[in-house]
Amino acid sequence: MKKYLVIGNPIEHSLSPTLHNYWIKENNINAVYDKKLIKENDIKDIIFQIKSKEIQGVNVTVPFKKKVIPFLEKLSPEAMESQSVNTIYLENKKVTGHNTDIAGFELSLRYHKYNVKNKKVLILGAGGVVPSIILGLKKMGVGKIIVSNRTKNKAEDLKNNFDNLEIVDWGETPCFDMVINATSIGLKNEDGIKIDYSVVGQNKFFYDVIYNPRETIFLKKAKFFGNKTENGKMMFVYQAHQSFTIWHKIMPKIEDKILKLLN
Ligand code: ATR
Repeated sequence: MKKYLVIGNPIEHSLSPTLHNYWIKENNINAVYDKKLIKENDIKDIIFQIKSKEIQGVNVTVPFKKKVIPFLEKLSPEAMESQSVNTIYLENKKVTGHNTDIAGFELSLRYHKYNVKNKKVLILGAGGVVPSIILGLKKMGVGKIIVSNRTKNKAEDLKNNFDNLEIVDWGETPCFDMVINATSIGLKNEDGIKIDYSVVGQNKFFYDVIYNPRETIFLKKAKFFGNKTENGKMMFVYQAHQSFTIWHKIMPKIEDKILKLLN
């Protein structure tokens, strides 16, 4: 039986096993997908298990998406560009790291029928997922990206890898068409995002990478003020879809039944 894993810390909340095991069953594949809480010094051993074919594939979540890179033998162009790996497998005898968050983000916007071409997008946060979001937005022809992060120098650091970013202070509300919460605020139902809704206007698009809770306070307030809102569930689904397709060479179906199971 083939073995797959998602590694991270914390990992309890991860819905990857639910989704992957659903698709494994639907497609009659002899495999199992587990979650594993790890510490940084466990990475080496996990990678060795991929090399020795004890494990066929690994998904990586916070805080290890960058930390796994030194242990890998090859990176896909997407992983190289974002310096972020969420999918690992053996290819031509090399332990290879790939990033499916970029495609996951892009496909989620297409699913929600939001066209970012020439739009002004504000990203809140500068953590692990932000380079993938920036790459996805640029691929889709975004007009302007503004980044705001509590620790401003982390936002400034992004300028070393991406051109044409504008950085604003945390708490400032520049004008935008779309705003993305890429911080961890809201995971515990807390309200720490200072958006001045009186200057935002209506009919803007508020996107939260968080999907559990289903509706963060950030999204609730946005909706109250008359804006379009979406959470990160479809980004999660599409990044998993891409990983599954790479590992099993089968494109699984995204059915309503599994989308409901993830709620
Ligand atoms: P990492 O920074 O290790 O990649 P992450 O979970 O990917 O971790 O990112 C957490 C993001 O949420 C960061 O942008 C963080 O801001 P800092 O860089 O200032 O730490 C942001 N964040 C988390 N808690 C926050 C809070 N209470 N207020 C503002 N920003 C917060």
